[in-house]
Amino acid sequence: MAISADAIDRRRRRRRGCVILLAIAIRAAWAGQSALAAPPTPAQPAPAAEAPPVAPASTTIAGGGTTLRSVHINLPRSDSTFPGGAEADAINNNCLICHSAGMVLDQASLSRAAWQGEVEKMRNDFKAPFAAGDVPAMVDYLVNLKSVLAQSAGRQPDARHGAVIVAQGTTAGAPPCAQCHAFNGVSDASGAFPRLAGQSAHYLAGQLRDFASGVRASALMSPIARALSPDDVADVAAYFAGVNAPLLPLKAPDAALVKRGEELAKAGGPERLHCDNCHGPGGSGEPPVIPYLAGQYAHYVAFTLQMWQLGFRKNSPDAMEVIAKKLDDQEIAAVAAYYQQVNSPLKAAAK
Ligand code: HEC
Ligand code: HEC
Ligand code: HEC
Repeated sequence: MAISADAIDRRRRRRRGCVILLAIAIRAAWAGQSALAAPPTPAQPAPAAEAPPVAPASTTIAGGGTTLRSVHINLPRSDSTFPGGAEADAINNNCLICHSAGMVLDQASLSRAAWQGEVEKMRNDFKAPFAAGDVPAMVDYLVNLKSVLAQSAGRQPDARHGAVIVAQGTTAGAPPCAQCHAFNGVSDASGAFPRLAGQSAHYLAGQLRDFASGVRASALMSPIARALSPDDVADVAAYFAGVNAPLLPLKAPDAALVKRGEELAKAGGPERLHCDNCHGPGGSGEPPVIPYLAGQYAHYVAFTLQMWQLGFRKNSPDAMEVIAKKLDDQEIAAVAAYYQQVNSPLKAAAK
């Protein structure tokens, strides 16, 4: 995703006054340490004038060798992401869960030592949920931020070219995405293919890279993703992210199953954070990092949770893999049924 600093600035949206609740599964080794840590107190007033300082309230739920931690935070956010493809993912996935890319870019010319200090401050004072081992790669990226931005400034994702790929495929052999996902990204009522419409470009592009690398294995999608160039990936992701498509009318699901799913989605359990904790109210998503589930097909949601259980989907090892493995078949069927209908016009009929 090639976005220049300038573009990020212009596109920055303020979302004030909303509480973002995020959570992450952390390995027991440093879960213990962070659970014991004193409540976060920012060491000094933050220089960022755009947002009032906040002390994130952190809570932990432990069980089965892992700890899920959630952090309440209230900062400006936006859907912009850092450029640089896979290299930027550590930053995109770990930094943008709390605040906008613009907030980091305001500091784009810090020294290595200063970035080191910033990242450690995020982790220690603000309880950013990443492991100490991830810090060096993040600092490397941040130190080079200016040159990465300069290199990527030349190209913006081209959603119109994305639409051409969706309709016609590519000369390198990718078939038209519309064959399975429909031109508007709603796929079809079979639920065999996920809905892509309106999902964040960052998430969609990340999944395509994961299909190509095999981090997410799919007999259908992996060869298709390998036939896409990095520019194709950015373009097609930008296209689907921008589509506002209706929900297809689906058969009313079993009311008892939906009710059980709603409980899991909203309340969770003793060893598990509820899904909406990360996926947003009613599964509406927390872009750019966390996909929406609202309106996603039950068949696909159940299928992909099983892929995590079976080890065919290896992205999100610290969050979704842990969470999927805590769900039994009935619970999977229940959350899947709940999210499929959550925004549906037929919802009232199902109750
Ligand atoms: C758990 C939430 C969280 C995560 C994750 C997070 N931050 Fe922050 N960040 C904050 C808070 C809280 C502030 C302070 C905001 C304020 O004072 O207005 C902040 C402020 C900043 C600032 C402004 C300067 C400052 O020190 O206040 C920069 C730059 C920054 N973060 C960079 C990063 C980077 C880079 C990452 C990823 C390595 C990251 N943040 C991840 C919560 C987070
Ligand atoms: C032959 C059918 C088919 C075609 C053509 C196809 N897809 Fe897919 N797509 C699938 C299936 C099946 C899945 C679910 C795979 C899985 O989870 O293992 C999927 C999943 C995806 C996902 C993951 C979505 C999510 O919510 O995680 C993305 C992104 C995607 N496809 C993009 C594309 C793009 C872009 C194209 C065109 C270049 C395309 N697909 C063409 C069948 C197809
Ligand atoms: C700790 C935060 C967190 C919690 C809690 C959480 N998720 Fe997720 N979920 C994520 C993240 C992050 C991703 C994106 C993973 C990736 O990049 O592939 C995701 C992705 C997913 C996907 C894939 C969507 C797609 O289009 O392929 C499904 C399905 C899902 N989550 C279901 C659930 C359900 C059901 C629950 C509750 C039982 C839940 N999640 C709880 C963080 C969370």
